Amino acid sequence: MNLDLTGKTAVVGGSTQGIGFATAVELANMGASLVLLARNEEKLRDAVGKLDTSKGQKHGYLVADYFQNDQVKNAIQSWVDAGNTAHILVNNTGGPPAGPAHTANIEEYLTAFKAHLINNQILAQALIPGMKEAGFGRIVNVISTSVKIPLNGLGVSNTVRGAVANWSKTLANELGAFNITVNNVLPGATETERLTSIISNKAGKTGNSEDKVAEAMTNQVPMKRFAQPEEVANAVAFLASPAAAYINGINVPVDGGRTGSL
Ligand SMILES: NC(=O)c1ccc[n+]([C@@H]2O[C@H](COP(=O)([O-])OP(=O)(O)OC[C@H]3O[C@@H](n4cnc5c(N)ncnc54)[C@H](OP(=O)(O)O)[C@@H]3O)[C@@H](O)[C@H]2O)c1
Repeated sequence: MNLDLTGKTAVVGGSTQGIGFATAVELANMGASLVLLARNEEKLRDAVGKLDTSKGQKHGYLVADYFQNDQVKNAIQSWVDAGNTAHILVNNTGGPPAGPAHTANIEEYLTAFKAHLINNQILAQALIPGMKEAGFGRIVNVISTSVKIPLNGLGVSNTVRGAVANWSKTLANELGAFNITVNNVLPGATETERLTSIISNKAGKTGNSEDKVAEAMTNQVPMKRFAQPEEVANAVAFLASPAAAYINGINVPVDGGRTGSL
């Protein structure tokens, strides 16, 4: 099975911590050169310093706030205009705040769509020409199991994830002929800062302790535990590899079996 990414370049969003960082680590271990993309330059520099360089990989970063579409566009376009191309794009950033769908205001929806769907489109549009030219492309979107079964209390997130999933499937149909695959990884509850804030939010709302909330959450998982970010990253990295050449347009839950559908 060919998991070798030597000579390939990967752009990974939201990659200073959590699932994005774990993905960058794994892709670098497989030989890829990484371009990390997030908003905090100090954390980016620190993250780049932790990536493997033993196979001659050259890593760098781009600074952009995903709440500012122009920043993302300028960052990626300047990078492309400087003559750079990427073979792999991992679309990932922080998730929208929790809360019901029916009480969320219009701004919350617009912010979430811009941070997720619109930035994904900006990044894909900038990088697809290079992927076509290389005859190799992998776009992997980190979204959520809510595209299969909506999650209670994550109204805005459920909505924008559905949009990203359908955008992704449409791209898969359009780009397969160019040897570019487009797939989604759907993390279950994964031990990152995002999960910590979801647990503390639920504890605040229900009056239960954070331990009790965490226990109730793991009880819903057949494997009775949360995922580690590396376990989600492994699925992203596999989909980005040459070995996954004929896997296109799918959703891969990495949730310990929690999602109650096929
Ligand atoms: N963890 C879970 O249980 C879980 C479950 C299902 C789905 N997901 C989804 O998976 C994705 C990754 O989750 P995670 O748990 O790894 O999240 P995380 O630990 O909160 O990390 C998010 C990453 O995105 C960056 N980021 C956040 N806001 C940004 C912004 N405005 N501009 C640029 N970068 C930004 C953060 O970097 P800086 O803040 O340093 O810029 C960080 O690197 C999210 O969409 C999340 O909703 C997570």
